[in-house]
Amino acid sequence: MANIAIMGFGTVGAGVAKVLEMNGASMAARLEEPLHLKYILDVRDFDQSPYADRMIKDFSIIENDPEVEVVVETIGGKGVALDFTRRCLQAGKHVVTSNKELVATHGKELLAIARARNVNYLFEASVGGGIPLLRPMYECLAANEIEEIIGILNGTTNYILTRMVQDEIAFSTALQEAQGMGYAERDPAADVEGLDACRKICILSDLAFGREVLPDEVSTEGISGIHLKDVDIAAAAGYRIKLLGRAIRLPEGRQTAYVAPHLVREDCPLAGVDGVFNAVMLRGNAVGDVLFYGRGAGDLPTASAVLSDVMDAIAHRSKRRNLDWSQSAQMVSASELPMSWYLRGAFSAGDARAVCGPVTLLGDGAVITPPMTAAKAREAAEKLGAAAMLHVL
Ligand code: NDP
Ligand code: HSE
Repeated sequence: MANIAIMGFGTVGAGVAKVLEMNGASMAARLEEPLHLKYILDVRDFDQSPYADRMIKDFSIIENDPEVEVVVETIGGKGVALDFTRRCLQAGKHVVTSNKELVATHGKELLAIARARNVNYLFEASVGGGIPLLRPMYECLAANEIEEIIGILNGTTNYILTRMVQDEIAFSTALQEAQGMGYAERDPAADVEGLDACRKICILSDLAFGREVLPDEVSTEGISGIHLKDVDIAAAAGYRIKLLGRAIRLPEGRQTAYVAPHLVREDCPLAGVDGVFNAVMLRGNAVGDVLFYGRGAGDLPTASAVLSDVMDAIAHRSKRRNLDWSQSAQMVSASELPMSWYLRGAFSAGDARAVCGPVTLLGDGAVITPPMTAAKAREAAEKLGAAAMLHVL
């Protein structure tokens, strides 16, 4: 029997207990041993909960119990979650988490502790919610050099954009709905301003390229500056607006990453990804393009990913996953990459051509420029007095 503990009994932590309850028998059959949820740590009282008998408030009970082999950290943030994770790993326990903020900022240190103690620190649920993504990337695509990753990485913002476009719901109402369903971060500005997607593209980049990229090295723009007018113009011209995270391997050991809203052509697979769903496209130098799709947030989908890591840790008790990004990345600013841009304003097609070169006209004073750097695009936008400027994929 394998004993596990959950730290943080909120949306994801409670989802983990629920999936364990639902599917514990089949999981035990696959593992050839039962999983036993021994403790649940939370600051709140759960007197009426069916789990009341195993609720605790003192972390040291988990830390000092040698029977607990795997600890699930679903508290979130970099505060106690960091301290508890360090101490669990130091105590020789595997730790499984959905906490992307912690993995993106302290993953290097925590993986080093795990390596020293010969245990696993696993975080499948930290990117893409329930989508099997990280393990397929580092296992099934291990024979590839990953060249590029691009994806819809945040369920809350994708849900908001979908509700606004398809159902004409106001931004604040759509955000409230996403919060009600447990999709949003504790501070939903992390979703709306792109920070959450930034943390996830850092983790993907760390794993794919084996070098540490920290969130403050990644240019990040969220969805709060998007005007409905641009959504409408884009839709009429056959585009959708999506918040994308992107990481690219560049020549000479360099790399780049950024998060920004993009116009995406309707025939691109990412354009049809709606609601809480996420999708990530990877390009490997042997396999070519691979697409991962599924629910990017929510209690049971995220718990599915958490528990797959729990099972992985138990199935390979003494065999560590070789995850490592101990060296720093050589980052190039994404603003140096030539890209096409959407510009809208009260300028004529002739003016746009004179300033940008051969533009594509979208109607309603909007154009798509030929590829140019962000600096050149900003200069052009200024000359034209553009009211909106967005990336085009
Ligand atoms: P919640 O806020 O719902 O749950 C966190 C729980 O931890 C709360 O019950 C909280 O109590 C409790 N807690 C706070 N401090 C402590 C402490 N010192 N000791 C023990 N428990 C504590 O968060 P989520 O479940 O939504 O998210 C957890 C993590 O998973 C986050 O990192 C999030 O980014 C990530 N994640 C979330 C997804 C989702 O769909 N929600 C999906 C994928 C990842 P209190 O509320 O009283 O503070
Ligand atoms: N707030 C996150 C999202 C949770 O909406 O995608 C899943 O990581």
